[in-house]
Amino acid sequence: MTSDNYIKELNLNLDYEYLKNLARRNIEKYSTSDNRFYSGSKVEDDEYLSKIREQFPCLKANYHILKLAPGAMIRQHVDSLRNCALNIPLFNCEETVTTVYKSLNSSDYIFTPTKINGIDVIENELEYDWSYTLNKPTIFNTSYPHSVKNNSVTYDRITLNWGISNDYTFEEACSMFSADVVDVSKL
Ligand SMILES: [Fe+2]
Repeated sequence: MTSDNYIKELNLNLDYEYLKNLARRNIEKYSTSDNRFYSGSKVEDDEYLSKIREQFPCLKANYHILKLAPGAMIRQHVDSLRNCALNIPLFNCEETVTTVYKSLNSSDYIFTPTKINGIDVIENELEYDWSYTLNKPTIFNTSYPHSVKNNSVTYDRITLNWGISNDYTFEEACSMFSADVVDVSKL
């Protein structure tokens, strides 16, 4: 496997100030001290995101703001409700790492029985394959086993995670964003 199987980094110009404020409002609304915080909201309730979705109908009708506290980790898992997602870094992603593990045959996975926030946690000992740091909008193939760790001792990592409909494969979703630069900073 090469990184092209796992991610596509996009030249997507976004209104980051707007998205950061949106994330702050989400986090304040659900004020929580959890190490991991994952809020789901409807795209239709936000005009800017709705306009982006009009351009890219592969994006799902809900988006999520994910907060990972300093030192927090999302254990190895596959996403259970989607095959891929558009992940947008908003705050303090520089000291974080997403690790992708070598896949097993689907029948060999041992999943933790309790489902958490749309992810299936994997109990098998998995072999490291590749890792990256989210530093630009990226389509990530979430059907491969992966984990996320915030190595910062100080800062929360905050991202906007926007699932891609299962009607689209990873390759199809990537091709929708294939222009050299996609400017959706002012819609
Ligand atoms: Fe995931």
